Amino acid sequence: MRLAGKVAVVTGAGQGMGRAIAQRFADEGATVVAVDLNGEAARQTLEGKDGQHLARSVNVADSAAVDTLFVEIRERLGAVDVLVNNAGVGSVDQFADIPDATWERVIGVNLNGAFYCARAAVRHMQQGKGGAIVNISSTSAVSGDGPAHYCASKAALMGLTRGMAKELASRKIRVNTLVPGPTNTPMMQGIPQEWADTIIAGVPMGRMAEPEDIAKVAVFLASDDSGFVTGQNLAVNGGSAFL
Ligand SMILES: NC(=O)c1ccc[n+]([C@@H]2O[C@H](COP(=O)([O-])OP(=O)(O)OC[C@H]3O[C@@H](n4cnc5c(N)ncnc54)[C@H](O)[C@@H]3O)[C@@H](O)[C@H]2O)c1
Repeated sequence: MRLAGKVAVVTGAGQGMGRAIAQRFADEGATVVAVDLNGEAARQTLEGKDGQHLARSVNVADSAAVDTLFVEIRERLGAVDVLVNNAGVGSVDQFADIPDATWERVIGVNLNGAFYCARAAVRHMQQGKGGAIVNISSTSAVSGDGPAHYCASKAALMGLTRGMAKELASRKIRVNTLVPGPTNTPMMQGIPQEWADTIIAGVPMGRMAEPEDIAKVAVFLASDDSGFVTGQNLAVNGGSAFL
């Protein structure tokens, strides 16, 4: 049980990678707070898992709601040990047609949301004990494959990770970026088969990642097994791109 005794917050935990991460964390002994816009889906994620887990419906792009959530977590479960900033959104607009509202939504969830959650988590980590923050970026951040607003938001997470990692290292708070390639989640399941075939053809290991491939690496980055790893980008993509 590599996360025994830890309180771990996972955003976007209602489906896809976030669900797999939350479930794996619970299996590894963490007390999990599953956060999603869809609170019922977050609750289902933790169904049947033993422990004091919580599921909450929170929009990570709402700074005040995030602060309130972390105060509640502190009161109910004590200090936070782990945060996984997984909640993310995309859109398929052509660059010249990206509406302001779409730009603001993508940056608002993918970047601002990660910042609000990380800032609140750091405030509620135990002095002297430290913690681990895992930001879920995307290979799109470096390859440019994907809409520009999405690429920008995911590249910004890498800078956020590094700035936080340097400043917070002396407090034993580690911050790393997990960088998935194409992964078989509801976000990808809507794409045309032809597009999926092209993506898979570009993966030397011959398939998309499964959410569990990502969850296993998230456990590593959240656990003491990665105790001297901070500020890094760790790609999980079957060899499709090197960082
Ligand atoms: N699937 C891929 O191929 C892929 C590849 C690289 C990176 N990613 C990134 O990995 C993360 C997870 O992707 P996924 O494929 O599992 O996505 P998904 O769309 O299947 O699930 C995302 C979850 O986040 C929740 N969410 C969205 N906005 C939210 C908000 N404002 N507040 C709280 N919850 C919110 C959704 O309700 C949903 O449950 C995302 O950050 C995504 O950008 C995905």
